[in-house]
This record gives sequence, C-alpha cells and structure tokens, in this order.
Amino acid sequence: MCGIIGAVSQRNIANILLEGLLRLEYRGYDSAGLAIIDQLGKFNRFRCLGKVQKLIDTTQNKNLKGIIGLAHTRWATHGAPSEINAHPHLSEHIVIVHNGIIENHEKLRKELLSYGYIFSSETDTEVIAHLFHLKQKQHGGSLLEVVFQTIREIRGSFGIVVMDKSNPSTLVAARIGSPLVIGCGVDENFIASDQIALLSIANSFIHLEEGDVAEISYDKINIFNVIGNIVNRNEIKSYVHYDITSKGKYRHHMQKEIYEQPVAIKNTLKGRCKDKEIDLSELGVNMNFLKNIKHVQIIACGTSYNSGMVSRYWFESLANIPCDVEIASEFRYRKLQVRKNSLLIVLSQSGETADTLAALRLSKKLNYIGSLAICNVLHSSIVRESDLYLTTKSGIEIGVASTKTFSTQLIVLLMLVIKLGSLNGMNLEVQHSIIKAIQILPFRIEQVLARDHIIEEIAKDFFNKNHALFIGRGDHYPIAMEGALKLKEISYIHAEAYAAGELKHGPLALIDNKMPVIVIAPNNELLRKLKCNIEEIRTRGGLLYIFTDQNTNFKNELNMKIIQLPYIENVTAPIFYTIPLQLLSYYVAVIKHRNIDQPRNLAKSVTVE
Ligand code: M6R
Repeated sequence: MCGIIGAVSQRNIANILLEGLLRLEYRGYDSAGLAIIDQLGKFNRFRCLGKVQKLIDTTQNKNLKGIIGLAHTRWATHGAPSEINAHPHLSEHIVIVHNGIIENHEKLRKELLSYGYIFSSETDTEVIAHLFHLKQKQHGGSLLEVVFQTIREIRGSFGIVVMDKSNPSTLVAARIGSPLVIGCGVDENFIASDQIALLSIANSFIHLEEGDVAEISYDKINIFNVIGNIVNRNEIKSYVHYDITSKGKYRHHMQKEIYEQPVAIKNTLKGRCKDKEIDLSELGVNMNFLKNIKHVQIIACGTSYNSGMVSRYWFESLANIPCDVEIASEFRYRKLQVRKNSLLIVLSQSGETADTLAALRLSKKLNYIGSLAICNVLHSSIVRESDLYLTTKSGIEIGVASTKTFSTQLIVLLMLVIKLGSLNGMNLEVQHSIIKAIQILPFRIEQVLARDHIIEEIAKDFFNKNHALFIGRGDHYPIAMEGALKLKEISYIHAEAYAAGELKHGPLALIDNKMPVIVIAPNNELLRKLKCNIEEIRTRGGLLYIFTDQNTNFKNELNMKIIQLPYIENVTAPIFYTIPLQLLSYYVAVIKHRNIDQPRNLAKSVTVE
C-alpha cells in the first residue's frame, strides 16, 4: 500500500516522478506528494489531497526541475487523508517517504517531543524523519550510517527512502517488510515500491531483500544486508512495457481485465496443459515429492481466499487429497496443528500481501513439506520466498478488483489438482475430460461475455439497492462469496454470501420484496436442493436473480429474473459463473458512478497488516 518512487540522475526527473506516481496510484490514492532538488540545490516540495492528477495540475506551471527527488502516493494508515499528512515528510534537511506501519511510533513521538521536535502531521512517517534528524545531530555520520542507526529503533513493517537536502547526491532506501526495487539506468538510478513505476525508464532491476539497505547515486548502487555487510543482489532484465493509459476501447481497467480473461486463461495454460496431460515440470521437483503430498493447506486473503475455497472442493473430490483453506491473517496468529506431508499453498495476485507473506514466513518454522506460491507477479516477495512457484499469466492487473487474476488462479489450481490426482489414482478418462473442459473454457467465457448487454440491463435494478444476498451450493458457494465481495468492493452495496442451505438458519429473516438475492444455479447434482432454497425465498417475496444454465427450465416469474447462460462443463463451471457476477458488479458500479478502478479506502496491493 502506498507507492514510492525516487530518482537520482543528471537530467530533469520531475516528469519521471510524476509519471511513476500515476503508475503506482493503484496502490493508494488518498493524497500525493513530491520533493525535488535541482542542480543548484534548490528544494521544492508539493503535496495535495486526492489523486496524482491533482499533483500534476498543481505543479504544471511551476517549471519544476530537479536531478534528485522522491514522490509518494498515499493510502492512509496513521492520520486522515489530508495535505499535511501527505508525503514526503521533512525534518529540517531530512526528506522521507515511507510505506508500511511503524508500530512504536507513539513511544518515539513522546521521546522526540521531549527533545523539542514539533510535529506538523499525524503520521508515523514524520516520527521517522525527526528520529533521523536527531540521530544525525547526536552521532553525525553519513546518511547511510544514520539510516542504519534509525531503523534499529523502529518496529514494524516498512519501506523507506530518505534524501538529505544538505547532500543531494544520494538516496538511501531500507526494506523491512515492504518491497522496494531499484531500477538501473545509464547515468541514473531509481527506486520504487513496485517495478511497474519504472518500466518505461529502466529495464534492469534489483529487488531488495528483507533487511537490505541501499545507497543509490546516479552512477553507483551499494547494497548492504541486515548486518551491514555489502552484498550482491541479482540484477534482472525485464523488457515488459506498460502503458498506464492503455484501456483500449474500454472505459475502465476492470472492464478491460474482465474481457481479457479468455486470453489470460489461454496464456496460463500454454505449455502446461497438453492434450492428454498436465505438464508442471517447471516446478523442478521429482514425482516422489508430488506423490508424497497427503494434505494441502491453502492460505490467502480476499479474492485469492475465495479461489482457494473453490479449489478445496476440487482437491478433495477429484484428487482425493484433503485440503484446508484459511485466511492468512487468522492462520498467522493461531496455534496450528500441521497435518502429515502437508503442502502449503500461498495464493496471491500481487505476491506482496502482508498477512499472506507473514503466514508464509511463519510456515517455514512449521512442519510443511514445502511451500508453493501461485502468483501473478514473478519477482514478488511471496514468489521469491516460497520453495516452489507457479505463475498465473494474466498480465498486469490494474483495477483494484481482482478479476482475471482470480480466474487464472483457479486455472492453475485445477491443473495442480489434475497433476496431483494423476499421481494419486485419478482415472485417465476423468483426467482427459477435465483437460478438455479446461481447453474449451476460454471459448465458453467468450460466449458469456457476448451476453454482457443482458447483465447491463439487470444491473439497473440495483441502482437504489443498499443490500444484496448471494447464494450458491458446493463449489459455487465460494463463487457466491466472490460475487458478494466484488459487488461491495466497487459499488459499495452491502452484500453477503451464504451457502444456500444456511438460509433458514438466520438470513431468511432478511428476505422481503426489496432484498435482491443472486443465486448461482448451475445445472449440477445440487440443483434440486438449490431449487428448494429458491422456493423458500420466493414464497417470502424475495427478489430473485438466478444465473443458470439454459437447460434448467427456470422461467421468468414475478420477482424472479432468469439469466440464462450457455452450456458449461461442471468442473469449470465455478470459473465460468464468476464472469457474469463480475459484469454485474461492474455495471452496477457504472450506473452508481463509482470510482471503479480505485474504489474508496482500498488499494491493489495490501502491504500493511
Ligand atoms: O494480491 P492478493 O491476491 O494477495 O490480494 C488479496 C486481496 O487483497 C485481494 O484479493 C482483494 O480482496 C481483491 N482486490 C478484491 O477484488
């Protein structure tokens, strides 16, 4: 959360910082700021409440120039979104930007007040700025030395970048929990919280490791590990180009990303899903390792958790492997019993989610036979710290709402289920039929996308709604959860999901003719049961929206709208039924004029606990 970009060069870097901020805005967008120093040592700082565009407008006529600088887009943790709380923060000549949380900020603030420091913001970041200043005053030393002294005293999870107005030649960055990446250029170097910020200006990157401190000048980069020894970190080439404005013919990134799903799935299958078998040799493990897996423990947050929940049905019913799924923030704080020969699977789109990363780290002290990350970002912390990884090949996802990364996570999970199932006695015919279903899925999704106008029409019914219920059974219960999460996240309508069989245990009390109930009703063995639940709602006057197969014989009746979808194979139906629910949320958010790609209070990459 929050985005950082810093640059040190011999040319004017003002626009590089602003453009980098635009690319990082999906990580946080409460306020933005920039501090820059020019060749003559002239310092400028601009901050504003709201979007990066406002900062760009504010600085437009200021003839902004500089060869070293820092910029930040904020997702508020300590202190409300406001101009005074926006970064960079200052303590005389010390300038700092920060991601993450300083847990002992209150204690430090008291100490600093007793030294006479005056605080102009409510942030924990300003505490670090003053602490730097105090350390430098007390002990002297280079910026690098002061960074080492200071981080020893702060607790929490953070990424910081500091610059010194009195020596504007170097940036010093420290990573304790929050990712930072250096972009290497010719006669210039950069630092950012996310490679995406640097894609147009560097094609070689160094990811800082946990505890690293880096000293960056325009012609030199020195990296020190947690005990202060100089270290070599891998420099990775990347030729990915990314244009933030490239929404193509779409109005929003989320819309584009929904429609990209057939291609994203094809890319994720490429080289892995062969005609008659699944090839996951990229894992680099032998068959015995895979055969030994007798239990799967999945940890994840949010949408990734929902995809884990779907896969639990698959692991148990198709591969005969017991599977548990847990929210990472719960997993990391309870006393666990690890099952024998259990593989830990970490699901994360971004690969930086703080709770998921912490749970992964914790698992290393426990008795898992290994950890496997399923992630959309190759060089992310979660991928780098897992024993094994499989990437989803969705391409960058910009909309805060996960869409294509959800469906491709499910594709990877299903391939893994087939692979493990094949080593665990899964019948060849079953394997082949699942493979066939996966291969045809992109085409089936295209058919649903072609019916978007039907869903757009239905979305109008939700304009004045404040609540909604989503229900499903079996592997479609997690799809109901995902549908509810999407609707609340981008339209701000309160939405809850229930296993349909749970209705009479409480939620039925909510049903009246104002309460929309969205039913996910594929043509499977649970449909008969689900129809009974639908009747319970209908007889109480609930407003039903039934997403179903064209062959299930539901008819439009009073208070009951049927959204008929094309035929879909049972095994891939959960992925398929997600698509109309994503579209529904999207269109509801459009008619409610929501900020779809950057919904309020949220951020794409949740790097704080
Ligand atoms: O990057 P991750 O998949 O680890 O993120 C976990 C959640 O924050 C994320 O899935 C969130 O729930 C989605 N943005 C919701 O659409």
